[in-house]
Amino acid sequence: MSRTLAIIKPDAVDAGKAGKILAHLENAGFSVTSLKLTVLGRAQARAFYAVHEGRPFYDELVEFMTSGPVIPMVLEADDAVAKLREEIGATDPAEAAEGTVRKLFAESKGKNAIHASDSDENAANEIAFFFSGHERLGVW
Ligand code: RTP
Ligand code: MG
Repeated sequence: MSRTLAIIKPDAVDAGKAGKILAHLENAGFSVTSLKLTVLGRAQARAFYAVHEGRPFYDELVEFMTSGPVIPMVLEADDAVAKLREEIGATDPAEAAEGTVRKLFAESKGKNAIHASDSDENAANEIAFFFSGHERLGVW
């Protein structure tokens, strides 16, 4: 078993899709081991997506991620990082495979419903970014 970080993004929370996305992920075989609802400040959003600083969509991405509540969560499964990337689908929902979270629930390439870590190293860093101490279930 391994763990990864997902974030239900503001578009999906605002549209009342969070429960359906959570159910979809549980049905796909993930266990939720940490979860919260929070609002990102500008500095937090900039830091979280620092890898994209300088890209043309960076300011829009920070604006979007701070526009309303988000729901970060830790998901556990066999090969969790790769499994979740497969379950969420391509960045642009128009290109996402049938049955993926983005195909089912996302609006656009920018407002695409969910984030998922893209490596075990980034998953560990992103989990630590949102959850600490008693918020983390199990052995770390
Ligand atoms: P994420 O990090 O949120 O899981 O998404 P991803 O790996 O599929 O895509 P990434 O390349 O890491 O981009 C991060 C987020 O930036 C927004 N984006 N907008 N308008 C655009 O061309 C564009 N490109 C990327 C999306 O919200 C994307 O998820
Ligand atoms: Mg990414």
